[in-house]
Amino acid sequence: MQDTFQNEKKQALVLMGSPRRNGATAELVRCFTDLWQSRRHEYTVIEAYQAAVKPCVHCGYCKRALACRYDDDFSLIDRGFREADLLVVASPVYGLGFPGPLKAVFDRTQRYFEAKFSLGVEHPIEKHKTALLLAAYGSKSSRGVELMEEHLRLMFLLLNASLKGTITAPNTDSIPVDSHRVAGELKLFLNF
Ligand SMILES: Cc1cc2nc3c(=O)[nH]c(=O)nc-3n(C[C@H](O)[C@H](O)[C@H](O)COP(=O)(O)O)c2cc1C
Repeated sequence: MQDTFQNEKKQALVLMGSPRRNGATAELVRCFTDLWQSRRHEYTVIEAYQAAVKPCVHCGYCKRALACRYDDDFSLIDRGFREADLLVVASPVYGLGFPGPLKAVFDRTQRYFEAKFSLGVEHPIEKHKTALLLAAYGSKSSRGVELMEEHLRLMFLLLNASLKGTITAPNTDSIPVDSHRVAGELKLFLNF
């Protein structure tokens, strides 16, 4: 990973997809925020289960305007997409994919698809950013994480983000998160 997170103050947007504040995903987020803060960088955590983000209803509003018909908490996320230097998606694997509230957030990025392909905006999100996936899964199979990565890579084309790494907590239904290993992997990723 490049050393872009070493010096000046940087901003991270963390999209947290677990409803459990003491679960494995929360532990992955804690490992990240501890490290990130230790370098005096800033972050915002958006908890998908707490945020009021309506699911996309395919109404077509964003085909005609650079906006969404809903004025809800997605506007905070939109601001984060525009301003953050690092985007962190932290999620449990639910049914080989993202939990519903996080999927609702992701579906709302349809407005950037329409901005680009219906309204001709070349870069709906101008600032390029690095992205990191933190994923917890109960089983020993990483298949869900692979599918999540595929989902994110497609969506990140619209968000002007590049998925540069994935750090996981596997087998969480049987073993606790190895926070020491996770912190080590995060240090490598962030080049701290
Ligand atoms: C609705 C639901 C669906 C799940 N689906 C999967 C799955 O497809 N694959 C898997 O490995 N674990 C699955 N799990 C287990 C969770 O990924 C695991 O318990 C994870 O640690 C939950 O995250 P949390 O500890 O942050 O709440 C599922 C759990 C729930 C509640």
